[in-house]
Amino acid sequence: MAARINKIGILTSGGDSPGMNAAIRAAVRTALYHGLDVYGIRRGYQGMIDGDIFKMQTTDVSNIIGRGGTILKTARSKDFMTDEGMQKAYTQLQKHDIEGLVLIGGDGTFRGAVAFFNKYTIPAVGIPGTIDKDLSGTDFTIGFDTAVNTAVWAIDKIRDTAEAHDRLFLVEVMGRDAGYIAIHSGIACGAEDILIPEQATDINEVLDRIDRDELRKKTVHILVVAEGDDFGGVKEFYPRVKERFPLLDIRTTVLGHIQRGGPPSSSDRVLASRLGHAAIGALLSDHTQVMAGVINDEIVYTPFESTVKQRTCIHKDMLEMIRVLSA
Ligand code: F6P
Repeated sequence: MAARINKIGILTSGGDSPGMNAAIRAAVRTALYHGLDVYGIRRGYQGMIDGDIFKMQTTDVSNIIGRGGTILKTARSKDFMTDEGMQKAYTQLQKHDIEGLVLIGGDGTFRGAVAFFNKYTIPAVGIPGTIDKDLSGTDFTIGFDTAVNTAVWAIDKIRDTAEAHDRLFLVEVMGRDAGYIAIHSGIACGAEDILIPEQATDINEVLDRIDRDELRKKTVHILVVAEGDDFGGVKEFYPRVKERFPLLDIRTTVLGHIQRGGPPSSSDRVLASRLGHAAIGALLSDHTQVMAGVINDEIVYTPFESTVKQRTCIHKDMLEMIRVLSA
């Protein structure tokens, strides 16, 4: 059995997501409850390299459960992708006597973790924090629910204008190369079409569907386009739609970073609290180099390398349902 860990470091890395603060709070408070010393590492892996490390008390995480962003700040560190950067990061951890890590982030964070732990041995547990929901080993990632709710809030407003002016709107949502935000927000808003990277987009079929809607005198068209769709984003779609339907009044909207910010939903706060608590439990029971996730409402642990390997898949029933419900 490994020696008990006494000092841990905690960081957030990659794109911020609403609920990261709730996860930090839960991990910090659980660690302090178990008598551990907790060190915050600012700006993710970059802060590890730069030694931007400070001791945390329980009051450091007061009143943050409902705040978006991350009090630890975050970054996508290019330096950490180099051998030299990783060496510097490890030296800093040793300098601060940090014996365990809690890593909150997404795909890039866990890819970085795999590379780092191939070279250096330090116990670590991950927490999935990304709006994209593009990790295996958990049903939901922290921030996804809030991002979808934000997109729904925005698209509902766009629908009002679309209806008032009989317009077609192409709305682009985030998700990098995953279509979860698009699928969930599109279904929740009753979108006429949803275009996602997981399914090849045939532009002619998309145009035919608009044509069919036109014939049926549908006055509102909302097409939700995932930013990673293989045909492109709304910029690529617009000229093709305009070319085929020159008389249609068409607008494009890129929702962008509003999807990343704002207070986390109650679901994200609860998920973040559970996973922050579970991560410390795993570290203390020497169950490490894993990401804590929730599957079927149970806490599960997945090795870092398995969280990022598989391509995520969208349930087929959802794809079929979209065609039926938008008819
Ligand atoms: O991974 C989260 C995410 O918001 C993606 O959906 C998006 O593609 C990307 O980050 C945007 O990154 P940045 O904020 O660095 O432009």
